[in-house]
Amino acid sequence: MATIEIVKRAATRPTWAEVSLQNLRHNFSVVQRHVGPQNTICAVVKADGYGHGATGCARALEEEGARWLGVTSLDEAIPLRDADIQARILLMTGFWRGEEDEIVRLGLTPTIWDAGQVEQLEKAAARLGLRHAVHLKIDTGMGRLGVDAEDLPQVCAALKDSPHLIVEGLSTHLASSEILDAPSVADQLKRFEDVRRELRNQGIEPPLVHVSNTGAVISRPEALYTMVRPGIALYGYFLPFERAGREVSGSKLKLPIKPVLTWKTRILSLRDMRANQPLGYGGTYLTKAPARIAVLPVGYADGLNRALASRGRVIVREYYAPIVGRISMDLTLVDVTGLPGVSVGDEVILLGKTDGLSVDAQEHAELANTVVYEILCGISKRVPRRYN
Ligand SMILES: Cc1ncc(COP(=O)(O)O)c(C=O)c1O
Repeated sequence: MATIEIVKRAATRPTWAEVSLQNLRHNFSVVQRHVGPQNTICAVVKADGYGHGATGCARALEEEGARWLGVTSLDEAIPLRDADIQARILLMTGFWRGEEDEIVRLGLTPTIWDAGQVEQLEKAAARLGLRHAVHLKIDTGMGRLGVDAEDLPQVCAALKDSPHLIVEGLSTHLASSEILDAPSVADQLKRFEDVRRELRNQGIEPPLVHVSNTGAVISRPEALYTMVRPGIALYGYFLPFERAGREVSGSKLKLPIKPVLTWKTRILSLRDMRANQPLGYGGTYLTKAPARIAVLPVGYADGLNRALASRGRVIVREYYAPIVGRISMDLTLVDVTGLPGVSVGDEVILLGKTDGLSVDAQEHAELANTVVYEILCGISKRVPRRYN
């Protein structure tokens, strides 16, 4: 029988993302300087490194000194171990029944919040004859993952009955770290302190205490403890801070971080259109005058948000060019009327900057009424990531 050899060919469709590992490393060191050398950074690389590619990012972060990486689950941790990443890995959303042996064997650190998880991990660690570290998560008011104060005694009892487990970490997550006047933050920190005291009374005093995501790293020096869990800052962004419902900025609310991802494509076709020509699905955009329209080989299947239709812009040859008409699955139209020298094959910046012009993921997020996280994570697998 004939055998078919499958050769993995490099992508030739010219829509790609450039990931600057240099900027990623810079951002890590900025955060490390900000939190101080004694504080441990758990660099969050979940969701494929917020769309930047987890393995490449994890390797660069490890080289830059990251001793901890945060992922959501075992599925995200395995490729990192397969790539020989040695850093400790925190499983931020715990584990599923049946995963515990592999977690212990791979030396992964699960977040836990109930007695059942403790029992399952204790059995796995005993079976493998190992002692295994866990991080206990407290729900201090976000209403998501974590042990409630009233269930704490039961979890503590299970932990005390588990000679193969070490409670190495204690954590919680803030619901509104970027809202500077949110009373919930002080409430959550107070509840966290109450739980810490209670645990101390029970003889449980984990060395790694962590609360802060990016927003808290930047704005809440009181919440840094011994470890922080920044994600979005490593990729060069943070959510706008707010006070009294209004956006605020200030020298203390910034870090000199740089966006890591640049998203590019090339002009696929150039069309000269007459006035009053409807463009794209639904004909939602009508040319007002004769127009030169560039067709770009990128669409919502690549993660270009449909909310950018006739509102977003790209950079072509050091000029902004507006997106016109609806974004299709694979194609987007931009108006390049009057831009000198535009040709088929020209590079187009979807996200990134050049010569004082910039379109960043925050701009896309505002137009799409979402957060920068969703824009970055939304750049699909179809877009190859190139590392530089
Ligand atoms: C538990 C937890 N910690 C830390 C982070 C990182 O947050 P950020 O990207 O805002 O720094 C996240 C992200 O969603 C998270 O869920």
